[in-house]
Amino acid sequence: MSERIKIVEVGPRDGLQNEQAVTTAAKIQLVNDLALAGVDYIETGSFVSPKWVPQMADSGDVFAGISRQSGVTYAALTPNLKGFEAAMAARADEVAIFGAASEGFSQKNINCSIAESLERFTPVLAAAADNGLKVRGYVSCVLGCPYDGDIAPDQVAWVAEKLYQMGCYEVSLGDTIGVGTPLKAQRMLEAVAAKVPMEKLALHFHNTYGQALANIASCLPLGVRTIDSAVAGLGGCPYAKGASGNVASEDVVYMLHGMGYDTGIDLAQLITAGKRICSNLGQQPRSNVALAEIAK
Ligand code: HMG
Ligand code: MG
Repeated sequence: MSERIKIVEVGPRDGLQNEQAVTTAAKIQLVNDLALAGVDYIETGSFVSPKWVPQMADSGDVFAGISRQSGVTYAALTPNLKGFEAAMAARADEVAIFGAASEGFSQKNINCSIAESLERFTPVLAAAADNGLKVRGYVSCVLGCPYDGDIAPDQVAWVAEKLYQMGCYEVSLGDTIGVGTPLKAQRMLEAVAAKVPMEKLALHFHNTYGQALANIASCLPLGVRTIDSAVAGLGGCPYAKGASGNVASEDVVYMLHGMGYDTGIDLAQLITAGKRICSNLGQQPRSNVALAEIAK
């Protein structure tokens, strides 16, 4: 049997948090389409301040409208206790807290320092433990920051270790602005894996400079087995100017299947899901695999 890679689909959240005109119905359709394609972990929305990210203000309605499939985890971002309570009310299966390896991005994205963010996450982790919910942790700007520039691998490792020690079952390493290159990605992952077990780590690479697939491929031999991606390469962070989409799920799945890994995902159905949300957005998919298959 081929080895399984866990795909964390972030399209409905990371993919759409930057898009202004997506209806709630289109978001619900996307989540349902992804589940039908065999995606078993879907970051469905985020419970953040609507003053900061109005595009995610309908996340409660999205959670209420989806057809939940058994075996699928529908997760949500929660920056604080208020967000956690909203996620509980929406019956999110899991939540994610999100910090950063750089002070500049932490301030711009969540309006506090790294140290303050860790303090703010403590009650979220406690409330999640009380309610039996697992918490995923993100570290942003692991390969560069739009405000602070280069980020030392040790700094990434320090924040990742804190999140892990605080109780995050998995820590996702975000190249928020997609500036990393393969050897840099490897060095960063090695530094983090010296502090947090490799099987507890995920890669969350944006594709701004077209390096994301190469970076993922270079990190697989180090043992990482969880990859975040967004269908059709949707995405971008409102607080990271110039950051383009996440690595496209179709491209990741095609590459992994070609390397002999199993993802549990039906590529053709994934492409259909991406086509439908792109037509709702009036955009072309930013996935080379999807474009090639559509052109056939
Ligand atoms: P703040 O302004 O310091 O917070 O923002 P506050 O506690 O002073 O609250 C301000 C207002 O927001 C108040 O309302 C709160 O009630 C409300 P008012 O009294 O003025 O009417 N509020 C909320 N409302 C709904 N849900 C909540 C919530 N919290 C406060 N949870 C805060 C701090 C963290 C809230 C804010 O900065 C925020 O929401 N930031 C989120 C930014 C964001 O979502 N960024 C994108 C996701 S991160 C990302 O994309 C990176 C990632 O993909 C990994 C990678 O690529 O690297 C994960
Ligand atoms: Mg992201």
